[in-house]
This record gives sequence, C-alpha cells and structure tokens, in this order.
Amino acid sequence: MKSFVLLSLMIICSIFTATHGHAVLRTPQPWNTQASKANPCGGGNPNTTPRISYCPGTKATVVWEVQVGDGTGPVTFKLSTTHDVTKFDTALTSTGATPNAVGTYSFQVDIPNTSCQDGLCYIQAYSDSNWFSCASINITPDCKATELALVPIEIEDLPYCNMVNKRTVLLPPGITNKDQFVARDATALSTFKQYMNNSAVIGTPSATCGNLLTEFICDQSFPLAPGSDGAQVTQVCAETCTEFKEVCQVVSHDALYPCANYPKCSDAFKQLPSLFILFFIVIVSVLVL
Ligand SMILES: *[C@@H]1O[C@H](CO)[C@@H](O)[C@H](O)[C@H]1NC(C)=O
Ligand SMILES: *[C@@H]1O[C@H](CO)[C@@H](O)[C@H](O)[C@H]1NC(C)=O
Repeated sequence: MKSFVLLSLMIICSIFTATHGHAVLRTPQPWNTQASKANPCGGGNPNTTPRISYCPGTKATVVWEVQVGDGTGPVTFKLSTTHDVTKFDTALTSTGATPNAVGTYSFQVDIPNTSCQDGLCYIQAYSDSNWFSCASINITPDCKATELALVPIEIEDLPYCNMVNKRTVLLPPGITNKDQFVARDATALSTFKQYMNNSAVIGTPSATCGNLLTEFICDQSFPLAPGSDGAQVTQVCAETCTEFKEVCQVVSHDALYPCANYPKCSDAFKQLPSLFILFFIVIVSVLVL
C-alpha cells in the first residue's frame, strides 16, 4: 500500500520472501515496503531505511495498510530496544480500528519511556493474518527535530508509473533521489506482475484490466500531493473502481474494494481537472508530541 521501496526488484527477489503484498507498515517506513509474511520482520534491510525518532512517553501515529485480500485483522506492535530481531520483548499498547477491509489504518501506539541501545530500536508490526513488517526507530527526548511526514516531491522519468511524471507526489522521508524513485517504480511494476499473475487477486488478467490495475498500484506507490487549495487529489474514482472489479473479475476479494468510498468520477473531475483520483487516503503522519 504508498509505498513503497528503496531497493531494486532484483535485490528484493533475492533477499526477501516474495509474496503477494497484502498488508504492510506505511509509517514509520518499513525495511521492506512490500508486504511479506516472512516472520519476524517481512524481510528488508534495516540499514537502508530512515530511522525516525519518537519522544518517550508519547503516542505515535503508526500507519498500517491493507492492500488487498488476506491482509485484514488485528495488528500487534512490539519493540526491541536492543535492535535484535529475535528479541521483540516489549509489547506496545495501541488504539485504533481493526483493519477489516482494504485501506490505511492509523494506530496510536504508546512509546515507552525507555532508551534504545546505540540509539536504535526496532518496531515490529504484525497482523493476525500473518503479515510482518518492521521499522527502525529511536526513542529520545530530542525527537522534535524529526517529525515524520510524507514529503512532497516532483517526479520525472518513471517508466511504469509514467502518469505521475512531472507531478508532485507524497513520499515517505528518505526517498529523495531519482534512483530511489526508479526503484520504487520497479517495485510497483513487480507488484503489478504479481497481482496479474495471481488468480486469487485478478480473475481475468486482460490488457484493459492491467491498465486499471496500474492506476491503483501507481496511485498507491506515488500518491499525488494535495492541490494548492489543499484539496485532496485522488487518482481512482468510484466508477473506475467498479470497472476494475468487473473487468479484472476481482471475485474473491470483492468486498475488500469498497468502491462506494471513492468520490464519483464526475464529482472528482468537477472538483479537480486532474485525471488522477486518489485510491488510498494520503496520510500525512505527524508525531503526537
Ligand atoms: C522518563 O524516565 C526518566 C527517568 O527514568 C524521567 O526522568 C523522565 O521524566 C521520564 N520521562 C517521561 C516522559 O516520563
Ligand atoms: C506466474 O505464476 C506461475 C505459477 O505460479 C509461475 O510459474 C510463473 O513464472 C509466473 N509468471 C510471472 C510472470 O511471474
């Protein structure tokens, strides 16, 4: 779900347990922005992702995304203060709605008054449906300097999600250069291929279906920044969503695409001349200080 990757597809395929992405951390940025069932962390590289600082004794907004299918269910958060993936020994209390459909879910997670060895803690999120995701964080009173927010960046030269070229999108902190954009684009393409090749997700992988799926996936990877009036810009509207489900024969996960939640295309176009209608809510997560 927006997110979502710093490493190339080749590296991902070789290192991570590749799965069809269904639920994953969005904020803080996970090591592997592809959803994974690899226990305990869903793969990925802790050394190539930003480390977000949280204030001790506060609540942090943590965003979990159910992308498709079997990613629903309660999410549990744990902490390793010794940055050891075999020692997620601190359970973190959290509040938030239980993910029961495709979408993004914000949790308020209690950050304990503790310190992280070498300034590095690992936070683990996992769902009852066995999707695992980890992120690197620090817990320090010096936390205000690193508020976490998606960063607006103008994109260009993407081969796959080319509809966002020359547009401003919102990306997690740390994705700042062209190589990273292109890697994220390659990941989006790999997600597309996985979905198209998975009959549990896409019943009829026609070319038209592929175009519709691309709209969803690219919107997820490169959500457009709000317009200058602050209005949310969306890439996928209700009719597009309905068409996607029909054309692609999305049967098994039908209930998980709540098309009625998206704006009607006519309204969306009236509101915004842009052709792009957002699929997932753009979350700008700011620490609760
Ligand atoms: C955290 O604990 C330290 C001492 O253990 C204390 O001085 C500090 O006030 C605590 N901070 C919070 C936010 O509770
Ligand atoms: C699609 O899936 C089949 C079997 O699951 C596999 O053999 C094939 O290589 C996959 N194709 C692509 C393009 O991933």
